[in-house]
Amino acid sequence: MFNKILLATDGSENAAQALEYAKGLAKCHRAKVFVVYVFPKVPDFLGEPSYSNALSKNIARGEEIIADLLHKLQEAGLEVKSEILEGPPADAILRVADVRQCDLIVMGNRGHGQVSSLLVGSVSHKVIAHAKVPVLIARSVEEESAA
Ligand SMILES: Nc1ncnc2c1ncn2[C@@H]1O[C@H](COP(=O)(O)OP(=O)(O)OP(=O)(O)O)[C@@H](O)[C@H]1O
Ligand SMILES: [Mg+2]
Repeated sequence: MFNKILLATDGSENAAQALEYAKGLAKCHRAKVFVVYVFPKVPDFLGEPSYSNALSKNIARGEEIIADLLHKLQEAGLEVKSEILEGPPADAILRVADVRQCDLIVMGNRGHGQVSSLLVGSVSHKVIAHAKVPVLIARSVEEESAA
């Protein structure tokens, strides 16, 4: 049923939780996994070489964030591709889902944000609202046991 699964990560615990669902479903469905990390827009008024340096730093940080997830997915024998993009996260996630023709998006309910009273963060909220494909929202273990 699922051929291409998009796993969105901001490096948070909740996203790590989402990985388990993405991995399990990808194994069941023999699906390819796209691991997506989005970094904030680098202001172009910085000028060179500051702009290029900031861009490189963000990409290197993204590579660090997704390395562990990539490793775990590859270890499970899955075909994996990473996507590190710039921009507002929800827009970039939705764009990758479209361009790569993913048929499922997997993400956490919360990320690194501080406002813990909300059930879902702004990125999850926007993706759920605008995605053309099903979205699986993983909830953190702590939250489940606190409920
Ligand atoms: N920069 C990002 N790149 C890729 N995926 C992301 C990014 N930010 C969030 N996500 C995905 O969205 C999920 C929910 O994070 P979200 O940012 O919506 O919550 P939050 O950080 O708690 O709240 P907010 O950002 O609104 O303060 C994460 O677990 C992750 O799967
Ligand atoms: Mg966030």
